Amino acid sequence: MNPNIELGPALQALIRRAEQALDAHLPDAEQPPVELHRAMRYAVLGGGKRLRPLLVYAAAHALACDNGALDASACAVELIHAYSLVHDDLPAMDDDDLRRGRPTCHIEFGEAMAILAGDALQALAFELLAAPGAAPDTQTGMRMLHALGRACGAEGMAGGQALDLAAVGRKLTLAELEHMHACKTGALIRASVQLGALAAGADEAALAALDRYASAVGLAFQVRDDILDVEGESAVIGKTAGKDASADKPTFPSIIGLDASRARLAELTTIALDAIEPFGTHAGLLAELALYAAHRNH
Ligand code: IPE
Ligand code: IPE
Ligand code: MG
Ligand code: MG
Ligand code: MG
Repeated sequence: MNPNIELGPALQALIRRAEQALDAHLPDAEQPPVELHRAMRYAVLGGGKRLRPLLVYAAAHALACDNGALDASACAVELIHAYSLVHDDLPAMDDDDLRRGRPTCHIEFGEAMAILAGDALQALAFELLAAPGAAPDTQTGMRMLHALGRACGAEGMAGGQALDLAAVGRKLTLAELEHMHACKTGALIRASVQLGALAAGADEAALAALDRYASAVGLAFQVRDDILDVEGESAVIGKTAGKDASADKPTFPSIIGLDASRARLAELTTIALDAIEPFGTHAGLLAELALYAAHRNH
């Protein structure tokens, strides 16, 4: 299978929609504290594939829903993601100086401002999701906030990042590696799909099917990230290639090899596509994103 790795026009339009909403909700770069606001805008705008907002819109699309309220969820997940990248790149973590083809936030603004920008982006995500109109009703809104909180905390992204740091130089089993990836990357991807589905009024059966899809896509996305670290070029991936090996991080290629990593990607893509079959043609955008997550070049 060699699908077109460029996203189609419907998803391209949704990227523009998410970016306009992010631009509108981020603080004004001319207003004090100017450095903090500039660092926040730098970390979020001007790059990024916007996979997580796209998953919000695509999950709602699978339920035949498209309304303005989705923008709050789309922004919230991308703000959390941007914050996680700023902190992931810090010297105390991955110590990276290239992100989205530009100097990382701490290289551009200094470590203190990068830490604060990450903090403020995380807070803004919850502020937007808790604002009036972000959810169809109060009870659903509480469920959405709860889902996002879990996805970023010790059971989710932050926990996965801790497992990642603790794993440096160790040889993980495949099950341990998949658990780490499911936490550090999978949790927010699952939350993105869940938020879109909840905002669209999904029932429990739909939520369960979409979560099977999201778990597979979330893992596939990080497997592809690990493969690109080995095979990609810095100029294309926009970050330093070969960083995982030089930092002695356990990754899919380092544990099972490149061929088995590719086979696992294919298997995960099949699981994702099977899970969304009940939604028929409405799941077209989700299907496109599953293929993109597994085959992207950057
Ligand atoms: C990079 O995420 C970090 C991982 C979780 C693998 P993305 O590959 O989605 O980064 P951007 O947003 O497109 O830069
Ligand atoms: C990052 O994983 C995951 C999060 C930011 C939560 P990586 O460390 O592999 O991401 P990149 O390769 O720096 O984008
Ligand atoms: Mg990392
Ligand atoms: Mg990193
Ligand atoms: Mg990586």
